Amino acid sequence: MSNTPATGNLIRAGDLVLIYLDAKRQFLVQMASGLKLSSDHGAMDIDSIIGKPFGYTGTTHLGRPFYCLKPSLSDIMLKVKRMTTIVYPKDLGYLLLETSIGPGARVIEVGTGSGALTIALAKLVARDGVVYSYERRDEFVQNAKKNVERAGCSEHVEFRVCDVAADGFSDKDVDAVFIDVPEPWAIVPHAADAVKSGHYVVSWSPNVEQVRRTIDVLKEHHFVRISAHEMILRELLVRTQGTRPRERSITHTAYLVKAQKIIPLE
Ligand SMILES: C[S@@+](CC[C@H](N)C(=O)[O-])C[C@H]1O[C@@H](n2cnc3c(N)ncnc32)[C@H](O)[C@@H]1O
Repeated sequence: MSNTPATGNLIRAGDLVLIYLDAKRQFLVQMASGLKLSSDHGAMDIDSIIGKPFGYTGTTHLGRPFYCLKPSLSDIMLKVKRMTTIVYPKDLGYLLLETSIGPGARVIEVGTGSGALTIALAKLVARDGVVYSYERRDEFVQNAKKNVERAGCSEHVEFRVCDVAADGFSDKDVDAVFIDVPEPWAIVPHAADAVKSGHYVVSWSPNVEQVRRTIDVLKEHHFVRISAHEMILRELLVRTQGTRPRERSITHTAYLVKAQKIIPLE
């Protein structure tokens, strides 16, 4: 997702556009000439969008308005084709600020899963950084590759198919290791070997038992400043008849663990 200069806000073939009719009808579409998008509020002709600026309002063949919006990184993550659960944007945003990674960083992630985290990391380390993405199931890698390609960040990702618990990481001296697997404690010894001293290992786990076991192993492998958090996100329903939290929302997703590796005293 490039930052669009004020003078270059036009929608081009290949761009990802969030076509928004209303909260229930939002489509992330890669622009291609000849494409038609259908909804229960009518069909939309993609050729009528290409060349218009982001923010353009079009109408379906039934006369309903739709808006052509710039998708956020969250939109792109949430709309990957899923073969696994993914890291949710609310759980990633905070952790990214809690690490030192940015443009140019070299980072490892395991497992690739559907590639939602891969995309976010690749956008962050661009233009000259790289994400080494490890996954033990090749069919997941094939799906993730397509998601990463669609998001336009393939050049910043290198995929590795292997079981990290058994074989470890072949990439070393990285700025951070991101772990999203059911048994993070089995990855921590390899992460300790791959991450630069002073730098970060982070992990997501749905259960407290996983967090406890992971933290025990982090302590054994010379990590300090170890923390565990849960992010709770609550949306407000803003209405003329009364404003209050929405009744239904995603409640628990994962606990976030973060630690930094040290060089111990001789
Ligand atoms: C929850 S998914 C990761 C989702 C990913 N973070 C995303 O946002 O799309 C967990 C993945 O870890 C992979 N995995 C589990 N243990 C692994 C291991 N020891 N080595 C490599 N991959 C592993 C699984 O096959 C699965 O695809």
